[in-house]
Amino acid sequence: MEKQKLQELLLDMSLTEKIEQLLQISGAYLENEGMVTGPENTVGFTQEEVELAGTVLGSVGAAKLRGIQKKYLEKQPHRIPLIFMADIINGYRTIFPIPLAQGCSFDPQLACRGAEIAARESAAAGLHLTFSPMVDLVRDARWGRVMESTGEDPYLNSRFAEAIVEGYQGKKCDDGSVDLKKRGKIAACVKHFAAYGAPAAGRDYNTVELSERTLRDDYLPSYQAAIDAGAAMLMTSFNTLDRIPSSGNRRLMRDILRDEMRFKGVVISDWAAIEEMLNHGIAEDRKEAAKLAIEACVDIDLVTTCYCRNLESLVKEGIVSEALIDEAVMRILELKNQLGLFENPYKDADEQEEKELILCKEHRLEARKAAADTFVLLKNENILPLKKDGQKVAFIGPHVESRKIIGAWSLFGKEEETVSIADALKARGIAAAVAKGSAVLDDNRGLEMFGDYVDYQKDAAAAAELLEEAVTAAKEADAVVLALGEHRVQSGEAASRADIGIPECQMELFDAVLAVNPNVIVALFSGRPLDIRKISAKARAVLAVWQPGTEGGNAIADVLYGDVNPSAKLAMSFPWSVGQVPVYYNEMHTGRPYKEGMKDKYLSKYLDIPNRPLYPFGYGLSYTTFEISPVRLSCNTIVRGQGESVSAGVTVKNTGTAAGKEVVQLYIRDHAASVARPVRELKGFEKIALAPGEEKEVIFTITEDMLSFTNIDMEFTSEVGAYSVYVGNSSETENEGVFTLI
Ligand code: BGC
Repeated sequence: MEKQKLQELLLDMSLTEKIEQLLQISGAYLENEGMVTGPENTVGFTQEEVELAGTVLGSVGAAKLRGIQKKYLEKQPHRIPLIFMADIINGYRTIFPIPLAQGCSFDPQLACRGAEIAARESAAAGLHLTFSPMVDLVRDARWGRVMESTGEDPYLNSRFAEAIVEGYQGKKCDDGSVDLKKRGKIAACVKHFAAYGAPAAGRDYNTVELSERTLRDDYLPSYQAAIDAGAAMLMTSFNTLDRIPSSGNRRLMRDILRDEMRFKGVVISDWAAIEEMLNHGIAEDRKEAAKLAIEACVDIDLVTTCYCRNLESLVKEGIVSEALIDEAVMRILELKNQLGLFENPYKDADEQEEKELILCKEHRLEARKAAADTFVLLKNENILPLKKDGQKVAFIGPHVESRKIIGAWSLFGKEEETVSIADALKARGIAAAVAKGSAVLDDNRGLEMFGDYVDYQKDAAAAAELLEEAVTAAKEADAVVLALGEHRVQSGEAASRADIGIPECQMELFDAVLAVNPNVIVALFSGRPLDIRKISAKARAVLAVWQPGTEGGNAIADVLYGDVNPSAKLAMSFPWSVGQVPVYYNEMHTGRPYKEGMKDKYLSKYLDIPNRPLYPFGYGLSYTTFEISPVRLSCNTIVRGQGESVSAGVTVKNTGTAAGKEVVQLYIRDHAASVARPVRELKGFEKIALAPGEEKEVIFTITEDMLSFTNIDMEFTSEVGAYSVYVGNSSETENEGVFTLI
């Protein structure tokens, strides 16, 4: 439809009809099995509100959504179609590894392919838009939603943000537009704006306190990358920032998001976030909340009655201008138009395609390859890969047979379609001993609402029996793979943990197995970095497998048996202990820096634990070894403002006997500036594949904009002075060169 026609349509609509376009209701109102992911509005919606609401969340299925759309359009006075939205985070039915794991691949194309597959499957199931990617920067492993992020680094997050948006929506056209009508494509919604990933004390929905400089330099770049890649929608965050909840923060949503960051698309509040301004204590009632939100340019009210019951009187009383409502409605109509819904309100909903595409062989294969590429080998004392012949391996632990390995946000993924480790062993014809050993959790504290879905230790006698069985299996084996870690529901939304260790019952299993067999390899399941000090000290190998998805078991077997050489690196540091959190590699310089071994008391350090995380950002081992040559800089000085650049080159050689991939990482340190700068910052990376003995040159080009930051005058610019360049295979590399910007 032409823009002119949309204008005419808007003119034809009554104020009530316009305001109803701004309401999103959950599919539960239109059908019985809609997915509800937050507290439902207690007031309930009237029949008229339901019949005129502009968008819907949480319902899926080609036949069902076609039916809902058809019925809706019969009553819609202007035949304006609904947009169907849902949280498709790491896959629709073919579940990929959780986003944090994807970040560890250091391969944005892997995430792009995952998003493409998710788009294809969910488009066939009738969806038009996903509430993804979540690009929030995360530094606190206590926060349960770190599993939904790609980690602690702004640069890495930005590369993933744009790749995921492109996967869902397709690449931007030359004129900067995105063709959302394309078959198999869905619109992306970047979230949660802004800085939702920094809640105080790691507690979900909690206050965020950040300096504006930190917000700008560390937190905004990944949202900007998603916007630049064409993300059609953006979601506000629940938290306050500078004591103002985002959904009512005019400066953030208008001045920064719309004006500075040039976001032109639709803004949706997070679940009930407009109404929650009452709880935040910045609105007296829903009417005031509605006023604050519409003035902040929030277009869609997610499941509350704030907009639909108050905007009309706000306009009639002259408090809110109708032009503001028109702007918001227009953005929604434009999105409907971009999706082609006026011509084809069902878009790609297709039952036949649903059958053919969902979980097809190709999608499963991609999910399997992707999962294997996200596993981080944290430790390996010459025990992995396992031998295919002549080695008796026992597979022990509560995650060996479990299919609850698809992550907290796999709302439509099914366990019965998931491959466990035990399933994978069977498929490979490996007749290994399998024993559960223990429950996942000691108790169900905080998780009572999941009923029997969480597996916790209920009875001491049964626990003793499980343990005994495991010890017997361990005694008879040459090596033991112990599958330990978190339950699927221990991370994700509203799943913060103050103790990020492994549950006691699993640690008892670890000790008991280790006492009879020293050859323990831990496959570590988690949605966050955990405190694994003891495991890391005593196991001979540790492989972080996260929540690996539908093909998780197969991918784990692929890596354990050496068919795939692990190549992932940590996208988020594993803390030494929870007391160190938040701990991240790109921290600021302090006035009293400490280096291991220093004896002075008055330095920035702990008395009882090291400063260094247990495993830092960018770290991860391989079954082969790589040698990286000293860094070669093309020149020692560049002139500011002249468009000059320095190139930093290294030669990388595979010095081992297996083919493998290495992630070569570029970090930069600014020696002195008008404000304190991070001790180092990732500015580039390249993942290269090398056969044994093969070597390749990797060259990074360092341009002036890579040196820019928000300076003392709040300008984003570079400053003259010396810079260190580090090129290596973790954030701790000391392979350094120095140049000066003059
Ligand atoms: C979450 C969002 C999600 C929304 C809709 C909220 O609780 O914070 O990330 O997209 O629910 O399900």
